Amino acid sequence: MKGTVFNHFQEMIEEQFGMECWETLLDKCDLPSGGIYTSAETYDDQEILSLVVALSEYSAVPVPDLVEAFGRYLYSGLAHSLPPSMMNFPDLWSLLEAVDSVIHVEVNKLYPDALTPKILVTEKRDNGVTLYYQSPRKMCLLAIGLVHQAADNFGTPVTIKHTCCMNEGADHCSMLIERG
Ligand code: HEM
Repeated sequence: MKGTVFNHFQEMIEEQFGMECWETLLDKCDLPSGGIYTSAETYDDQEILSLVVALSEYSAVPVPDLVEAFGRYLYSGLAHSLPPSMMNFPDLWSLLEAVDSVIHVEVNKLYPDALTPKILVTEKRDNGVTLYYQSPRKMCLLAIGLVHQAADNFGTPVTIKHTCCMNEGADHCSMLIERG
């Protein structure tokens, strides 16, 4: 996972739980990087997982809730890192269609060794879409948080039903994203 993701994670923790919380997590996790992250460098995914588990122990918030909350927080930081002209989508549905074919393509130009997931709109309906997610990192809850925040930014709150999940043995995740 890119350092930029860790930088946003640290920022969220310091804002919402305080500086001492970040220091406590670093003491607990004993990370190979020492907890110093450069945005364009790649770090072991295990580091973010260890930090989330340690944060869950610190805050008594379950891991899945923290991952989704971080997805929401991360969206704004990531969205602002691209030129505004790249993020100029008329609605949530066109943004979701562009994640794989435009947004993550740009990310891979910026960071040639980036590891972005496969995210596809596989079905469109009047009130929403089906989103396909596939990644060896199985970070579908992060994707759900990112989608919720993108939806809120468009003033289009959504409900998301996770109808099949890689963490339960499937080869991809399916998410029904509907207005409401
Ligand atoms: C709703 C919109 C988006 C969704 C659902 C989404 C989904 C994801 C997910 C789930 C990951 C974690 C890696 C994985 O699962 O394999 C990821 C990584 C990433 N995404 Fe997106 N993303 C979205 C928008 C954006 C935007 C707007 C940017 C703008 C720069 C962005 C940049 C990145 C970067 C830099 C990474 C880290 C890649 C790495 O660590 O190598 N994403 N994305």
